Amino acid sequence: MPPLHRTIPALRRLRLANTAFQQPAHLRLRPATAPLRCLHVTPRAQEQEKAESTTSASSADHAPQDAPDRAQSKIKYTSDSYPDLKRDSRFKKVSKEDVEHFKNLLGSEAAILDGVTKETGEEDFEQYNSDWMRKYRGQCRLVLKPETTEQVSGVLKYCNEQCLAVVPQGGNSGLVGGSVPVFDEIVINLSRMNKVRSFDDVSGVLVADSGVILQQADEYVGEHNHIFPLDLGAKGTCQIGANVATNAGGLRLLRYGSMHGNILGLECVLPDGTVMDDLSKLRKNNTGYDLKQLFIGGEGTIGIITAISILCPQRSSAVNVAYFGLQSYEKVMDAFKEAKKQLGEILSAFELMDAQSQQLYHQASGAKLPLEGEHPFYCLIETSGSNTEHDSEKLNAFLEHVMSEEIVADGVVAESETQLQSLWACREGISEAGQHWGGVYKYDLSLPLPELYSLVEDTRKMFEGNGLMHPEDEKFPVKDVVGYGHMGDSNLHLNVATRRYDKDVEKALEPWVYEWVSKRQGSISAEHGLGLAKKGFIGYSRSETMIKLMGKIKETFDPNGIMNPYKYI
Ligand code: FAD
Ligand code: MLT
Ligand code: ZN
Repeated sequence: MPPLHRTIPALRRLRLANTAFQQPAHLRLRPATAPLRCLHVTPRAQEQEKAESTTSASSADHAPQDAPDRAQSKIKYTSDSYPDLKRDSRFKKVSKEDVEHFKNLLGSEAAILDGVTKETGEEDFEQYNSDWMRKYRGQCRLVLKPETTEQVSGVLKYCNEQCLAVVPQGGNSGLVGGSVPVFDEIVINLSRMNKVRSFDDVSGVLVADSGVILQQADEYVGEHNHIFPLDLGAKGTCQIGANVATNAGGLRLLRYGSMHGNILGLECVLPDGTVMDDLSKLRKNNTGYDLKQLFIGGEGTIGIITAISILCPQRSSAVNVAYFGLQSYEKVMDAFKEAKKQLGEILSAFELMDAQSQQLYHQASGAKLPLEGEHPFYCLIETSGSNTEHDSEKLNAFLEHVMSEEIVADGVVAESETQLQSLWACREGISEAGQHWGGVYKYDLSLPLPELYSLVEDTRKMFEGNGLMHPEDEKFPVKDVVGYGHMGDSNLHLNVATRRYDKDVEKALEPWVYEWVSKRQGSISAEHGLGLAKKGFIGYSRSETMIKLMGKIKETFDPNGIMNPYKYI
C-alpha cells in the first residue's frame, strides 16, 4: 500500500480536476442525450453543416479551426484515383429488363433507386456511392433495398444468373472502402430489413434482422436490462448485420469479446439465392464445421447476412469512466497492467489517445479538453459492474495507487452521465476530427503492446524528414500524425490527417507501414477489415497457403465472383 500522506493529496487532485471539468453540452461534437447518436446521417453534406454550426456556437478560444468546405469538394471516382483497377468485363451492365425484373420482385417504389431507366441525378446516388472517408467513389446507377430474406434471395439468384456484380451495404460507415462500389456494381442496401425478431431475457439471446441500427439494438435490449456486446463510435449509423460482416471490434471487446464468440447463429443468403438458415440460439453446438464463422468478417464476399442471433450480457448497473494524463507510453503500459490487476472483472474499456489526437479533436470540435495542461498521453478507463459500492471502492483504490505511484500525472472521474459522455467524446470524436481538414489515411493495426506506439513515432519522424507535413501551412498535404486505439486489445489506430488525398503521402506510407507491422508479427487490419484499401496487402499478415485456402472458400461460395468484387482477397 502506498503511504497515506501520498494518496490523499493525489485523490484530492482527482476530485478537484473533476469539479473543474464542466463541459457545456453545446461544445460536444454530438449530443449525448439524443435518442440516436447519429454521427453520420445522410446526406453527409447536411451532417457536415450541422456539426460545424453546433461547434461554432462555442466561445472564440475554443472555436473549431476552419476546414476547407469538404461537403462541396467532389470525391474522385475510385477508377480515376486507382487507374490500374479495371472493370471486370465478365460482369453485365444493368439493363432496362433487369430493372423491370427487380421492380416486380421488390414490388415497391421505396425499394429501388433507379438511374438506369430514370433521369435520376448523380447526387441521389452519392450516399450509396461514396464512403465515410470521402476517399472512394463508385458509379452505381441502381440501388436495391429488399425488405425480406426471400427478396434478398430472389435478387441474388437473378444477379448470379445474369452475372451482375453486387455490393452489400449497411450503414456505409466502413473504413476500408468495402461498402461502396468500385465501378457500376448494384448496391444491395439492407436498411429496410430492420426488425427485431425475438429477445429472450432469460438467456439474453437477441434475434434480429441485419439492418437494425446498432444503437437501436442496444436500446432495445437495454429496455430488458441487457447490453449489445459491441459499441463503437458509428453506433448511430452502422447496422448489426454489417457489424458481423466486418467482425467489428469497438470499445468494449476487452470485456465482451469478439463477434466470433458472441454470435450464436446467422441467416445468410448465398450468391445463388440459397438461404443458409443457421439462426441457432444455442451456446453449444459441436455438429460439424462452424460455417457461420466464415461470414463473420467475410465483408460481404461470400453472401449476405440477413439476420443474426447474438448473446447479449446483462447490463451493468454501475458504470464509471476516468480520463488520465500520463507522461510516457511506458506509464500507459504500467497503468494498463495495474488496471487489469486491480479492476480485473469490472474493467470494460482501456483506451489510448496521444496528445496529438486530443489536440486534433479539440481543434476540430471546439470542445474543451478535460484536463488542464498538456500530457504526451491520455487514457480512458471504463468499469462496469453490478455493485456501485464495491466498484467505487475498487476504482478508488486503483486511482490512489496510480496517482501516488505517479503512474498517472493527472486525471478526472466522471460524476454524471453528461461528464461520462463528454469523456467518451474525447475518444470517440477523434475519427471525425481526423477528417476535418480534408482526409485521413487510416491504419488499424494489431501490434505487440511494448512496440505499439513506436510506429506512430516512426511515422511522425518520416513525415518530419520528407517535407510533406506542416501543422499550419496549407501547401503541405499532411497536417498531423496521431495515434490512438484500443490499448486493451493491442489495437493501434494510426491516422495521418491530411488536407487532401495525395499520392506522395500514400506512397510514403504504403507499403512502409505494412512492412513495419509485418516485421513485428502484427496484423495490418485489427478490426476494420480489408475492403479495397487493404486487399493488396493481405500478404503482410497471412501466409500464401492461407490466402490460397481463402481463395478456395470464395470460389466455393461465389463461383461467378459477383459478391463485392475487386476487394478482400
Ligand atoms: P458498411 O460500411 O455499410 O459495410 C461494411 C462491410 O460489410 C462492407 O464490405 C459491406 O459490403 C459488408 N456488409 C454490409 N452489410 C452486410 C450484410 N448484411 N451482409 C454481408 N455483408 C455486409 N469499426 C470497428 O471495428 N471498431 C470501431 O471502434 C469502429 N469505430 C468507428 C467509428 C467511426 C466514427 C466510424 C465512421 C467507423 C467506425 N468503425 C469501427 C468502422 C465501421 O463502423 C464498422 O466496420 C461497422 O461494422 C460497419 O457497419 P456499416 O453498417 O456501416 O457497414
Ligand atoms: C475507433 O476506434 O475510433 C474506430 O475504429 C474508428 C477509427 O479508427 O477512427
Ligand atoms: Zn477502433
